[in-house]
Amino acid sequence: MPLYRKLEALKLARSSYKGNALGVVPTMGALHQGHLSLIAKAKRESEVVWVTIFVNPTQFEKKDDLDKYPESLAADVAAIYEIGADIHIFAPTATDMYPEGLATRGQRLDGLDNLMEGADRPGHFDGVITIVAKLFEVLQPHQAYFGEKDFQQLQVIKKWAKDQHIPTRIIPCPIVREASGLAMSSRNAQLSPKDRKEAGFIYETMLQCKNKSLDKPAVYTTTKKAFSAHPNFDLRYVLCAEEDSLKEVHDLVSANKPRLFIAASVAGVRLIDNIALK
Ligand code: PAJ
Repeated sequence: MPLYRKLEALKLARSSYKGNALGVVPTMGALHQGHLSLIAKAKRESEVVWVTIFVNPTQFEKKDDLDKYPESLAADVAAIYEIGADIHIFAPTATDMYPEGLATRGQRLDGLDNLMEGADRPGHFDGVITIVAKLFEVLQPHQAYFGEKDFQQLQVIKKWAKDQHIPTRIIPCPIVREASGLAMSSRNAQLSPKDRKEAGFIYETMLQCKNKSLDKPAVYTTTKKAFSAHPNFDLRYVLCAEEDSLKEVHDLVSANKPRLFIAASVAGVRLIDNIALK
């Protein structure tokens, strides 16, 4: 299986592909079924697939969060191999990706980055766009796959790509969940077994809001009430927002594609989730 650690080797391999169906799946590794669903979709829809594995330091605002981010390259390679022995993997080092340190950073993201995850994690989306731009530059993908699990990230990337005339198609992929309903995440492994199971209440609450077609105030009170019954889970935000602009909706009935967004933390582990309300 082709595994590339060096940018120069990647560039050489990339230059030999002249077709028009190269798909890229950017990841930070510690792959789970959520990531693997993106890779499988890319494999179905592309002639050549590249998976990138790189724990991008510039999108972590806290050093200890970066330090404890899980890494499992050998297991990741084995899991990708199961999907396709011909899938290319690019797992560079930080010096390869940032040879000049942080020489060129500073994306303006038109407010999409100031709310939710952006408000809680200043500079986070700037770091995400910085690395995605670098990966796109070297891989020149025709299509790239991103999960709806990180819905704000998906919208920020879509907006940036459109604004910068990036020719890559940004393909959204549905959220994959654990049996409890908890959205899969590399961070879930940091939860205690008890917290991990209990965390299923977040999705249950979101489903309840959706299925009962609650209005916005009722969505907020229902969510806050559910969290007060799980005191070890700290609700960071709950927001009903329009899918494209991510602006808070006033009235869920007349809203265009409203979504419910929730972020929480439990024992220092951040969990995010979202659901389409209509
Ligand atoms: P990472 O958290 O590793 O996620 C890689 C991709 O997998 C993202 O597009 C994410 O939305 C998707 N994903 C994660 N969990 C998922 C789930 N349960 N269901 C569906 N998709 C899921 O997101 C990043 O890395 C980074 O910010 C990155 C884009 C690679 C830039 O560094």
